[in-house]
Amino acid sequence: MLILGIETSCDDSAAAVVENDRVLSNVISTQVVHRTYGGVVPEYASRAHLRLLLPVITAAMEQAKVDKHDLEGIAVTYGPGLAGSILVGLNVAKSLALALEIPWVGINHLEGHIFANFLLEERPCTPFLCLIVSGGHTQLVVVEEEGCYRTLGRTIDDAAGEAFDKVARVLGLGYPGGPAVAQLAERGNPRAIAFPRAMMQEGNFHFSFSGVKTAVLYYARALSAEELRAQLPDIAASFQAAVVDVLVHKTMAAARLCGLDTICLAGGVAANKALREALATAVSEEGYRLFVPPPALCTDNAAMVARAGISRLSRGERSGDELEPEPSLVLGNEEQITWGSC
Ligand code: KG4
Ligand code: ZN
Repeated sequence: MLILGIETSCDDSAAAVVENDRVLSNVISTQVVHRTYGGVVPEYASRAHLRLLLPVITAAMEQAKVDKHDLEGIAVTYGPGLAGSILVGLNVAKSLALALEIPWVGINHLEGHIFANFLLEERPCTPFLCLIVSGGHTQLVVVEEEGCYRTLGRTIDDAAGEAFDKVARVLGLGYPGGPAVAQLAERGNPRAIAFPRAMMQEGNFHFSFSGVKTAVLYYARALSAEELRAQLPDIAASFQAAVVDVLVHKTMAAARLCGLDTICLAGGVAANKALREALATAVSEEGYRLFVPPPALCTDNAAMVARAGISRLSRGERSGDELEPEPSLVLGNEEQITWGSC
């Protein structure tokens, strides 16, 4: 099945052409306008999508060397995300599908992240556990089968990526801050400062990252400018270690409890080298299997959306004209799973 994927849920205008498990093109235009403001400005994001999306789709079709009349369907993100941004992608998808007389389907952005794992040379077999860690979400999900999800827990405040971005701002590293914090951390000592690891013994699979972010803020505020400059790598490394510890600890506990020996990583923070390495070590100690997409498929992209679309369209699913943006769309039914039962 040959599919065009479209992703506009936040500040990346993205289009990709995917044929079955093969990515023929994956084009992303990251909007730079938001850097001035230290975060995404929703109205500017919508306007930038309007300017960028059609050229991005044209580039994706050209790179894939595919004629639009050969497309068999379109997959587009319809939530969660910024309403105005999603509206642009959704309307372009609807219009193209109407003009080309092909089916289209709306995709949950988080399901898209999970499906990045289905673009790997060897793909995971269901059921498996997926840790989704992005700028807007941190969620542990059991993927029972394609399209069937059970959420074990999610963040009760900041997402992991959001904490990285806020810490980057505190440390004066600009936006988006995750990659900058990670880069700085490579030169630092992860054990230099004992930042808090929240909800480690809470008896559930929820997360909280606002405490560690605030701890970094207070720690940095107590330093002189010179001390702060000198300690930046240690602060970044110690913060990153605190976040990674919690993510790995909860993921492994959930896998053990649910009897799942396959673990997948997804979302922008999955591009983080320290997280990838720590999870790989923990998983190999237990004899489990770990799937991690390459960094370019962890951060927002349309190939993952196209791949999720192939799964849904090939099962006969279709979206209709009535589908609207769902800014607060959730993935999977919430389940309160406690340590000791699954
Ligand atoms: O999945 P994504 O591209 O967008 C959302 O769906 O939110 O994730 C973006 C998030 C941002 O918070 C960004 O700072 C973070 O992923 N991120 C990273 C790294 N690369 C991206 N965080 C830590 N280390 C990285 N290498
Ligand atoms: Zn995302």
